Amino acid sequence: MTDLFDPLALGGGVLLRNRIAMPPMTRTRTSEGDVPNALMATYYGQRAGAGLIISEVADVAPSSNGYAMTPGIYSDAQVEGWRLVTDEVHRRGGTIFMQIWHVGRMAHPSLMPNGEAPWGVTGERAEGSDVFAHDANGELGYMRAGTPRRLATDEIARLVDTFAQAFANARRAGLDGVELHAANGYLFDQFMNSMLNTRTDRYGGGRVEDRTRFLMDVVDAAVREFGPGRVGVRIAPFGVFNSMPADPLAEETLLYVAGQLGRRGVAYLHIVYELMPTGNMETATFEKHHVDHDFLAKVRATFPGAIIWCGGFTSRTEAQDALDTGLVDLIAFGRPYIGNPDLAERLRHGWPLAEADRSTYYTRRGEAGYIDFPEYSEESSDGSS
Ligand code: PHB
Repeated sequence: MTDLFDPLALGGGVLLRNRIAMPPMTRTRTSEGDVPNALMATYYGQRAGAGLIISEVADVAPSSNGYAMTPGIYSDAQVEGWRLVTDEVHRRGGTIFMQIWHVGRMAHPSLMPNGEAPWGVTGERAEGSDVFAHDANGELGYMRAGTPRRLATDEIARLVDTFAQAFANARRAGLDGVELHAANGYLFDQFMNSMLNTRTDRYGGGRVEDRTRFLMDVVDAAVREFGPGRVGVRIAPFGVFNSMPADPLAEETLLYVAGQLGRRGVAYLHIVYELMPTGNMETATFEKHHVDHDFLAKVRATFPGAIIWCGGFTSRTEAQDALDTGLVDLIAFGRPYIGNPDLAERLRHGWPLAEADRSTYYTRRGEAGYIDFPEYSEESSDGSS
């Protein structure tokens, strides 16, 4: 039986010290130019006790900016900023992958280069979903996602090259690997969704190979840069976040992707079962999604790499129960990692967990609620001394 504190060898010589993952979480603490900084290095370093840290999502290009103050991985200054982060995590014995995305239609002209329209699989807008952007006076707040411009076929091929450059940047910045964000209604998910992707070129239409071609081309670029054992992919089965239409072909698509990733020897598949129904990140309630064990079992049978399960875990017992199903290999704890930099040690010893204040989750540029959570100390009953 696998214990939460057993190590795990991913491919590519990556050895994780335990089965605990810190999943990607946007925290809006970057410096000007969407550049990571020393504050972020401290934050990630404090959390290096996780078996695997997956960074907050990074933009592959300026056209992917769907959320103000999130980091990028396309400029030299960003590479230098990420280097601070990876050096600190490695100094403390941790492992860190970077999550990378293109938001596609989940953007706003105020964040786009020259105020252009967001990039879309089609011209269909995400009606009813918000992004964190600037209003007409330049003030930050939640705005309706813009109306996208449908990408031309040759632009998609060029975007694959843009991802390849970002992976080279990530390696230069010292990341141990990369995770592609193929969940939650962002660009890869937009392509994979058979209801939304009504394109008729080689990236669309009814055939699963075509709907998943963009993702798989980017996976191949990541594998070329890092090797398969240092590449992961995140999916959110049957999610409808960001105004995604319910997709009757979702299971077929995801199992096809799982099989293709398996053939390529990709390190892990990260499955998120907790979604925000709609609205924006600061006010939405998180909903524990129905976990379909039959689907997980089919993924397990299709994909030989490691599987990460993310979604509302708060205790060692819950995590161990999930491992005991034999369907997954790593458990991701999101919100508990905000207030508990030493979460792994707290779970190991049965120490109480501190609660973080949600109003500080996305504080711009602030230390408060970010790096000021202490490690647990036996002298204080609540770990807050
Ligand atoms: C998401 O995965 O839904 C997500 C990621 C990053 C954000 C916001 C939402 O900044």
